[in-house]
Amino acid sequence: MYNSKITGLGHYVPENVVTNDDLSKVMDTNDAWIQERTGIKERRHVVKGDGDTTTTMGVKAAKIAIERAGIDKDDIDFIVFATLSPDYYFPGPGVLVQRDLGIKTVGALDVRNQCSGFVYAISVADQYIKSGMYKNVLVIGSELHSHGLDMSTRGRGVSVIFGDGAGAAVLSRAEGTDTGILSTHLHSEGQHAEELSLIAPGMGKRWVTDIIEDNDPNDESYFPYMNGQFVFKNAVVRFSEVIMEGLQANNLEVSDIDMLVPHQANLRISQFIQKKFKLNDDQVFNNIMKYGNTTAASIPIALTEAWEQGKVKKGDLVVLAAFGSGFTWGSVVIKW
Ligand code: UT7
Repeated sequence: MYNSKITGLGHYVPENVVTNDDLSKVMDTNDAWIQERTGIKERRHVVKGDGDTTTTMGVKAAKIAIERAGIDKDDIDFIVFATLSPDYYFPGPGVLVQRDLGIKTVGALDVRNQCSGFVYAISVADQYIKSGMYKNVLVIGSELHSHGLDMSTRGRGVSVIFGDGAGAAVLSRAEGTDTGILSTHLHSEGQHAEELSLIAPGMGKRWVTDIIEDNDPNDESYFPYMNGQFVFKNAVVRFSEVIMEGLQANNLEVSDIDMLVPHQANLRISQFIQKKFKLNDDQVFNNIMKYGNTTAASIPIALTEAWEQGKVKKGDLVVLAAFGSGFTWGSVVIKW
């Protein structure tokens, strides 16, 4: 019997810092509103034309994770890439990572589960390792939001939240089942698919050919839509449920948690969960203040920073949890 364990972590964010004041120069918003509602002070945006894409950021994070795992790129057996902002409509970024890292012709899978993407990707990688099929799986979450946001006042309810960046983890086979990833728990509720979505371009409601024909600059379906309050209400419920589900599956209590790394959706959501579970400040990791919501990249960026700061140590019980578009949500319970 095997478990998988995280043997290497890395992250990369673009250098360009965009403050709330910077945003207030291009849309009707202000630092006080953004901080009070979301906790975000600044985020990173790729400067147009500087070459960074979802894939290149993922590759940069992956290089660090592979080096820290103490393995060679040729030891990678499989790639799982989670993003909602792929470089191309198709193929997905998994194969671009295989190419750009010069990894041999291993399988590359793309995960499309938005804010829950990294949790889903970890779960997939974990199953492959637990089954004995693979020894080392590279898992990446990366997003380039900034080029796809409506940066006018019309889009302010969404655009101020999201940021660019990437995180990566190497999952490797661990002998025995006492440490490593103990369990993963995944859910979806497609009934609310359109409550947080980007409808166009797709092959469903807004065909690419229609968009080209209409050529309408006021077409909002190019931009992400979010029913913010509805998403918020569902998020706090689902976060709580799926954290409890993970703990109960392993006969653990909330008090056993050493570090909770929630998807960085909104600081108020993290604070609500922290209060509900009566966790101390040093039991919950947040960095949304610096990076905004980087969807599939947010957990691996946060986990990497927590590990770099010595806040995730051998023997710790670490819980990852996410909720987002789909709706999808999930958790990962790890004995580090
Ligand atoms: O990661 C995936 C999951 N995502 C989430 O979990 C996000 C969940 N939702 C949220 O985080 C919050 O709903 C938001 C931060 C998106 C919005 O906060 P809110 O407290 O729900 O605000 P609201 O949308 O109800 O808007 C309140 C007011 C409105 O004005 P009126 O109608 O009261 O006059 C908005 O037009 O704030 C206005 N507003 C803004 N004002 C300044 C909306 N966006 C902005 C803005 N700056 N950026």
